[in-house]
Amino acid sequence: MSNWPAYIEKTKNKHPRPLLVRAMEYVEHKDSALDVGAGALNDSRFLLESGFRKVIALDIEAVPEVSQSFDRNIFSFQKSAIEDFDFPADSFDLVNAQFVLPFVRKSEIGRVMDAIKKSLHPNGIFVGQFFGLKDSWAGGKDVSAFSRKEVKKFLEGLDIIYFDEEENDNKTLLGPVKHWHIFHFIAKRK
Ligand SMILES: C[S@@+](CC[C@H](N)C(=O)[O-])C[C@H]1O[C@@H](n2cnc3c(N)ncnc32)[C@H](O)[C@@H]1O
Repeated sequence: MSNWPAYIEKTKNKHPRPLLVRAMEYVEHKDSALDVGAGALNDSRFLLESGFRKVIALDIEAVPEVSQSFDRNIFSFQKSAIEDFDFPADSFDLVNAQFVLPFVRKSEIGRVMDAIKKSLHPNGIFVGQFFGLKDSWAGGKDVSAFSRKEVKKFLEGLDIIYFDEEENDNKTLLGPVKHWHIFHFIAKRK
């Protein structure tokens, strides 16, 4: 499950995540975006192509080769765990967290969520997912899963633009079929 280099290799050159594409409809300014758990940089590439003037990607794994083709005046990469990243306050028009918040240590998630919310500009957009308690991976040592109520609490203080709960049985990218229980959200700083 957490063979991230293999995951990143397998997701090279894919389309951006649909939820990010949807969230872009609500972005008012394109000065600065943060892509956390950026993986193969498909979403970072989309943010650059969408006209952001500054895009920072963050991941615990090394920067993928594709970044060599990105404009270094606009794009930068930080190799860091989200838990160790010093989120600058009032800095981003968009924070994109696609399928990474479930891998933030449970003991740290409250602090991380507060830091992400504070890092948004007013009207800034935060988009991502949490895993729910019925997910097959819930209870695993590297996965944090939450109830709907807990997820809503994490988003407190933001205007929720979109919130969806998904459950299905599907293959993982690298392994067998599992039960997915996912909360997807798009939220906006007031
Ligand atoms: C499921 S992948 C998602 C990648 C990409 N966002 C996407 O949607 O394809 C999770 C990514 O987050 C990174 N990651 C996992 N735990 C992390 C953490 N605690 N801090 C920063 N990055 C992490 C992994 O290396 C991997 O690239």
